[in-house]
Amino acid sequence: MRNFGTILITGGAGFIGNHVIRHFVKNWEARIINFDKLTYAGNLQNLTDIESAENYTFVKGCITDTKLLEEIFAEFNPDLVMHLAAESHVDRSIEEPLEFVKTNVIGTVNLLNVAKNSWKDRAADDEKLFYHISTDEVYGSLGATGLFTEKTNYDPRSPYSSSKASSDHFVRAYHHTFGLPVVISNCSNNYGPNQFPEKLIPLMINNIRSESPLPVYGDGKNVRDWLYVQDHVLAMEAIAQAGRAGETYNIGGNNEHQNIELVHALCDLIDEKLGRTEGASRKLIKYVTDRPGHDRRYAIDSSKIQAELGWSPQIQLKEGLSKTIDWYLDNTEWLDQITSGSYQDYYQRMYDVR
Ligand code: NAD
Ligand code: TYD
Repeated sequence: MRNFGTILITGGAGFIGNHVIRHFVKNWEARIINFDKLTYAGNLQNLTDIESAENYTFVKGCITDTKLLEEIFAEFNPDLVMHLAAESHVDRSIEEPLEFVKTNVIGTVNLLNVAKNSWKDRAADDEKLFYHISTDEVYGSLGATGLFTEKTNYDPRSPYSSSKASSDHFVRAYHHTFGLPVVISNCSNNYGPNQFPEKLIPLMINNIRSESPLPVYGDGKNVRDWLYVQDHVLAMEAIAQAGRAGETYNIGGNNEHQNIELVHALCDLIDEKLGRTEGASRKLIKYVTDRPGHDRRYAIDSSKIQAELGWSPQIQLKEGLSKTIDWYLDNTEWLDQITSGSYQDYYQRMYDVR
């Protein structure tokens, strides 16, 4: 089992990143460095409960900034990099593909390069690991049957998944060419507290709460495999501790649902929680023009991580959705600050780029 002294986590102010940061700050003795550009998706209010922890440091910066990353490696000497920073939303990638290339491809190669150069002089028995967090979307789209395994050929179809696939290839290239100790995981759709309300579940919760239209793309029958974010965090911890260098692990929730089924479930749960008439929120559903190139179905075979590392998802969908809805209904101020954009002003002023 590996143990690390200093962990550099990129993208720690984002949705998954804040849960990773909180888990490691609370459960590990390691020093945790959160390196994040604070794009629209980065929100330090996600981390106010642990921001003054002794083992936690925040650095505002961009992963394409070589000089700053070199300074961070020289100053903190991380032995584990957990790389989550990315542009992450498919719809935005259709609007602005180049932003995805800059961060997801160039930023990842820059980080790989700085890690390689910084780690080359360190003793061979000093264990280091570059852990790249990726998505199942690199495998493309499934028909009605079948599952993505670690051996499935890459077939990305959106600018987002293409940029993540490219970054995965570079991570493997740094392993094969330079001997960099790397590990990759490809995970299915996450949901849970603190997710920016542009992705399906938080967008629907936000719109149901405000009784706004619920935009369902196409026929609503596209399928995603949903995983509660804390289950992803535990999978990442298991991989950081014991994942084999050079390997890939698929992570999934075993939880396939059509989008429309999920939206119905959210409507009904929120109606119940808010004491609205049964069926009231379903009336808000509006079928809209489909997303271009919309992948039909994702589903993950996670038997490798289950067999090798003993991980399996713990939170069932109904429980996870209920916890998620409760969090959003208890944190309407967080949602309002995001929808008004005011969440960025305070922290942007506090943390100037170094
Ligand atoms: P997110 O969009 O919520 O957060 C991304 C974070 O990265 C933000 O804090 C943002 O400020 C930061 N960031 C963006 N560009 C940066 C840059 N150039 N330099 C430094 N920081 C930058 O994303 P998320 O949903 O938390 O996803 C995190 C990672 O997990 C991504 O790599 C994503 O591809 C992967 N992933 C996400 C899901 C999912 O369902 N959300 C599923 C599988 C894999
Ligand atoms: P999303 O949360 O954007 O994740 P991804 O595209 O990475 O899987 O979308 C999940 C599914 O929900 C996807 O099939 C697109 C669909 N969707 C809608 O129908 N309406 C929406 O408003 C959004 C954001 C997504």
